[in-house]
Amino acid sequence: RCATDHNEDYTRWVLQDWLEAVQPMYRAVEWKAQDSPRWYPEEIGPKEWPKQRYEHVMKLRQEALDYARQSGANYILYTDADNVLSNLQTLQLLMAENKTLVAPMLDSQTGFSNFWCGITPQGFYRRTPDYYPTRNRQRSGCFPVPMVHSTFLVDLRKEESQRLAFYPPHLNYTWTFDDIIVFAHSCLAAGVQGYVCNNHQYGYINVPPQPHQEMEDDNINFVHLMLEAMLEGVPFLPSEFVPAPQRNPDKMGYDEIFLINLLRRPEKRERMLRSLHEQEIECRVLDAVDGNALNSSAIKRMGINLLPGYYDPFSGRTLTKGEVGCFLSHFQIWKEAALVFEDDVRFGSFFKRRMIRLMDDIRRAQLDWDLIYIGRKQVTTDPEVPVADVPHLVVANYSYWTLCYAISLQGAQKLLNAEPLPKMLPVDEYLPIMSDTHPNEAYKQHFVNRNLRVYSVNPLYVYPTHYTGEPDWQSDTETSTLWDDDNVRTDWSGSQKTLKGTREDVHHGLHSASRDEL
Ligand SMILES: *[C@@H]1O[C@H](CO)[C@@H](O)[C@H](O)[C@H]1NC(C)=O
Ligand SMILES: *[C@@H]1O[C@H](CO)[C@@H](O)[C@H](O)[C@H]1NC(C)=O
Ligand SMILES: *[C@@H]1O[C@H](CO)[C@@H](O)[C@H](O)[C@H]1NC(C)=O
Ligand SMILES: *[C@@H]1O[C@H](CO)[C@@H](O)[C@H](O)[C@H]1NC(C)=O
Repeated sequence: RCATDHNEDYTRWVLQDWLEAVQPMYRAVEWKAQDSPRWYPEEIGPKEWPKQRYEHVMKLRQEALDYARQSGANYILYTDADNVLSNLQTLQLLMAENKTLVAPMLDSQTGFSNFWCGITPQGFYRRTPDYYPTRNRQRSGCFPVPMVHSTFLVDLRKEESQRLAFYPPHLNYTWTFDDIIVFAHSCLAAGVQGYVCNNHQYGYINVPPQPHQEMEDDNINFVHLMLEAMLEGVPFLPSEFVPAPQRNPDKMGYDEIFLINLLRRPEKRERMLRSLHEQEIECRVLDAVDGNALNSSAIKRMGINLLPGYYDPFSGRTLTKGEVGCFLSHFQIWKEAALVFEDDVRFGSFFKRRMIRLMDDIRRAQLDWDLIYIGRKQVTTDPEVPVADVPHLVVANYSYWTLCYAISLQGAQKLLNAEPLPKMLPVDEYLPIMSDTHPNEAYKQHFVNRNLRVYSVNPLYVYPTHYTGEPDWQSDTETSTLWDDDNVRTDWSGSQKTLKGTREDVHHGLHSASRDEL
């Protein structure tokens, strides 16, 4: 049973296409769509629900419940249009719990989910100490909670379920007139304990935008949810039963946008290409130089030599072949103004909009820049100097990583003119040398014009997908062999460079990616 109405977007048509395609797989389908009106008379915006709308939703749920009871159904599963159940075992898993009312915990990009752990005597939300440990799966299982909403399963064979109702509210109901609160009250009055299960990843719920946000923000949030799902949990793909949403990628004003990827890492390439496409960013794949395929004599024949005295400050080793390959890959790009991505980027929310805003602000401020870190690891802890008239931009001090950066034509020329190949060190040490922020004076003496103007966004717009030592961590620069010896293997345990960022940074970053300036 599928109901949709009061739509200002294409929900109705997407649902209809989908339903026509999947109908043969169901015993019976009921379709209840209403094209107009598109809003309620008293509605100020899509996020402001008048009483009639709440009442309408309650009635729809009640009709579905009556229908299920009359047709002798054992179970009824409710779900909202902006919930994504990507775990195909969801029904079996929930049924196996043998509860009257059970919800699969839905993940989101924030603390938001489809359950409450506490409710006040007046029926308002109450934050309890159990909420975050549950939401973050620090405790795992099925837990009794006073509120489940959006997606949940009711076992109609349980006798106590007969007392549940969505509408009308209980005779003595005094709490807020809100569909989910009315139902929570009904559960309480019926003596039905609801449960939320977080022992599996079931799917996602889109975070409702702030009241002042546009409808378009819903779509951007949803795309971001999809990108996150590709990295963690159970990924979801567009349905084969509905046309793919239209995307119009562009280069955001850059001459070129590059994705550096090793041919032998197709999964990373596919994920990045899809992530960029979904965000309507057009990019060109640059096949990375595979350092591990080079032997030391070939490297020397290319005129590459180690910067005298260079060794990795953490492991004491010199350059790896992976680092040579990485350097050469970036080196190839330094010919034009470009935005450069490596293939292990996790996008913060509103990435494209932030990038466009940033470049507009930079143009308006007439800032003379060579390179801008969009993602990096800040090495020094001192606060960095903000750039006047460009919000979220700072003068970058000593930084690591080349995850994502913008480079100007002038910046590219400076990096080439310094002729780094015969005195090579890792590319993320070369950039700080060229901006004169590298603490090692001896290295810097080999480069005369260290006037690269380097900035960084702050907070960052992108993060690495994984950090050293995490299960899915994979580095082609650090897990490698030494540049001048084909036999000496190196691995991450020797390097602290990637170890220092923490999960906390990412989550802090994503959450502090506040929407205020958007
Ligand atoms: C399911 O729960 C009921 C109580 O509601 C119990 O009587 C029954 O034995 C349970 N079934 C299974 C298979 O555990
Ligand atoms: C409503 O409340 C009154 C007084 O508290 C009580 O007597 C009555 O049984 C309640 N009605 C229902 C339907 O629970
Ligand atoms: C090194 O690589 C070059 C070019 O790929 C090849 O011609 C040469 O035989 C290799 N040398 C060794 C020692 O493997
Ligand atoms: C960069 O960091 C170093 C080391 O913490 C500090 O001494 C220096 O003053 C910083 N430079 C700027 C421009 O803030």
